[in-house]
Amino acid sequence: MTQQPQAKYRHDYRAPDYFISDIDLTFELDAAQTVVTAVSQISRNAADAAPLRLDGEDLTLVSLHINDAPWQDYRLEEGALVLENLPERFTLKIVNTISPATNTALEGLYQSGEALCTQCEAEGFRHITWYLDRPDVLARFTTKIIADKTKYPFLLSNGNRVGQGELEGGRHWTQWQDPFPKPCYLFALVAGDFDVLRDTFTTRSGRDVALELFVDRGNLDRASWAMTSLKNSMKWDEQRFGLEYDLDIYMIVAVDFFNMGAMENKGLNVFNSKFVLARAETATDKDYLNIERVIGHEYFHNWTGNRVTCRDWFQLSLKEGLTVFRDQEFSSDLGSRAVNRISNVRTMRGLQFAEDASPMAHPIRPDMVIEMNNFYTLTVYEKGSEVIRMMHTLLGEENFQKGMQLYFERHDGSAATCDDFVQAMEDASNVDLSHFRRWYSQSGTPVVTAQDDYDPQAEQYTLKLTQHTPPTPDQQEKLPLHIPFDIELYDHEGKVIALQREGHPVSNVLNLTQAEQTFVFDNVPCQPVPSLLREFSAPVKLEYKWSDQQLTFLMRHARNDFSRWDAAQSLLATYIKLNVARFQQQQPLSLPLHVADAFRAILLDDTIDPALAAEILTLPSQNEMAELFQTIDPLAIAAVHQALTRTLATELADEFLAVYNATKFEGYRVDHADIGKRALRNICLHYLAFGDVQLADKLVSQQYHSADNMTDALAALAAAVGAQLPCRDTLLAEYDEKWHQDGLVMDKWFILQATSPAQNALQKVRELLNHRSFSLGNPNRVRSLIGAFAGSNPAAFHAEDGSGYQFMVEMLTELNSRNPQVASRLIEPLIRLKRYDANRQALMRAALETLRALPNLSGDLYEKISKALA
Ligand code: ALA
Ligand code: ZN
Repeated sequence: MTQQPQAKYRHDYRAPDYFISDIDLTFELDAAQTVVTAVSQISRNAADAAPLRLDGEDLTLVSLHINDAPWQDYRLEEGALVLENLPERFTLKIVNTISPATNTALEGLYQSGEALCTQCEAEGFRHITWYLDRPDVLARFTTKIIADKTKYPFLLSNGNRVGQGELEGGRHWTQWQDPFPKPCYLFALVAGDFDVLRDTFTTRSGRDVALELFVDRGNLDRASWAMTSLKNSMKWDEQRFGLEYDLDIYMIVAVDFFNMGAMENKGLNVFNSKFVLARAETATDKDYLNIERVIGHEYFHNWTGNRVTCRDWFQLSLKEGLTVFRDQEFSSDLGSRAVNRISNVRTMRGLQFAEDASPMAHPIRPDMVIEMNNFYTLTVYEKGSEVIRMMHTLLGEENFQKGMQLYFERHDGSAATCDDFVQAMEDASNVDLSHFRRWYSQSGTPVVTAQDDYDPQAEQYTLKLTQHTPPTPDQQEKLPLHIPFDIELYDHEGKVIALQREGHPVSNVLNLTQAEQTFVFDNVPCQPVPSLLREFSAPVKLEYKWSDQQLTFLMRHARNDFSRWDAAQSLLATYIKLNVARFQQQQPLSLPLHVADAFRAILLDDTIDPALAAEILTLPSQNEMAELFQTIDPLAIAAVHQALTRTLATELADEFLAVYNATKFEGYRVDHADIGKRALRNICLHYLAFGDVQLADKLVSQQYHSADNMTDALAALAAAVGAQLPCRDTLLAEYDEKWHQDGLVMDKWFILQATSPAQNALQKVRELLNHRSFSLGNPNRVRSLIGAFAGSNPAAFHAEDGSGYQFMVEMLTELNSRNPQVASRLIEPLIRLKRYDANRQALMRAALETLRALPNLSGDLYEKISKALA
């Protein structure tokens, strides 16, 4: 590293010294060397003459003009072009060159397959030209693209197409104009040869919008679900939020090389093809739902992100937390609300809580950043969404929507802050959110402890809640938060006991605002069973001394589906903790019959939604299990995970087989009822795979071969690999033979082997680095093989001989120079060393020290490694 990367602080925000009202871009495209001409209208904002510092990385300057005259008064610094002695208003013309073909970091303009495309969030535009690369500088963009017509028949950018024509030498050009001022992170350019799926959408005010979906040639048969999802998103945003689309055209391009999931560039979304392409044979039900969610997410950004953007990158959650909340609501309104909530809560508990407990812990609005790309995190996105959800719980839908309207009235067309958002919610609803705001500045996971007491004489139930947030590396002092705590009480028959105090009804949502608070309820006729933190009403850990009876009761009687699932989770947590301790003392697994019986009752309940039954029967992942412990013992957790699976498989063998056979149905449709039935049937197959080997091998093989869709085929393959059945190698080889030319389909195959419980998982992963379908240059492949190994195979990654860590050092050394963003995601499991025993900590530390010594260590990795070793 030439110099140590510098940290930036939220409190140092200053308005820009200059504004740019318009920028006129011309690209003479060529993969090896593209010429960029940028003509900007600039005016001074600072009180007195200040230098203009433009951001730029990896650019070669060709020429520089101010008001049409060559300009000499400039200097090039590391990462900047500095101009001095400027007039108050001027036209700046910069000509520079860039090299898309050698851009392996996939930031700025780069090559994906044969196409050229851009990714500018967060700070990618500075890899295209020198500019004020910050979100509070909003300009009107026009973009002219000139390129070879055969190689690049489609030339796309933001806004509306305003001109096109032919040029000599087989070239052509297209000009685009985006009428909405925007920050440069929303700029996009795509050039390539595609198949196009076209459709239209008529907005509720009657405007026709052209919809165009660009996919690689030959992939049209996988584009229709994404188009359906787009139209559903546009309609939903009108119905639920009253928000309409604002341009005449909306384009989505699917590319195979992409660091993130997708990008909301104005009028021209660029997507990781993983979140676009689907047909029954290649994509699972989960893939379909993810496509719907991500298409929705990027579309919803048009209002929450583009029309109102972020003042600075510390405010990222302003657009991301809010837009995740919106996409979660979209998925819940279109599908099963309970299943969506369960899946979001699994992410919070299994992954976001782990981030809170890591060296990278940060508030949803971070205070200090070295590399912004490191803050596209579960905390900013998922916990950010939980914070919005809590406001929604406190305000109610109607007031929340009033708050949204006020937010748009005040901030449309400008760059805003998280505080602006909360202020709008507060002003529109008259709900006091002053204490609530602390969620934006405090990091870490609060622990809420509940203790209760019932007084039969007075017929009073008392609930005492205490809250405490353990310190995090970034913040030692923690204060009490405003926690909406949703509860319900049941009598012995499962009837709801209305909450009352002194003759008045009391809301189900308790406002816990102090370190300790007691809530008393009157007219409670019997000792109630409480349902606590319903719907996961706040992103906290709950501690309460549940009895098995209470939990099995709630699994059966709780009125809402989420609570039934959550009770099952708590019941399992009890026996996971117990059995990890037993494993460590070399004692066999113990699971009382009544626990197995509670799961049997779910399996045999013919009134339950099959999708919910499948969720209840799905054990927590090893990552979710790990979060039940301060110090993680990965081998014990893997062993207990296996043993619990085998025990349930044995105890419920007949029922699993009966339900498996009874839920057979013909024909594949993406329909929520069918998705639920497939999920239930496939969880049965998963358990059956851990039962009698002969039967399992036969069933799994049969399902794999008879499946007409990827959901069922992959479930069979996963069962074969997970239970290490005899048919495993044959099925894996068949899959490889059939799909090896299709990277997205092969990702599933890589993940299965990277997360396999087989003893030789690492050796297999090393072999697969040379597989014909693998490429270290493609982020999806890297995440599927290397990322899945490190992140989702904890027993192998944390092997006691350090072989997993050594492997990651080799991979990260390579990826550090090739693609720092991807490397920085992959390193996460390695920086969480404090959660492990002394031996593993020492090995992890040594691995991190090797990486820290790399001569060209990226800022991305530097930030994480230095925090981990601090
Ligand atoms: N802004 C991009 C998204 O989350 C990365 O949608
Ligand atoms: Zn987003």
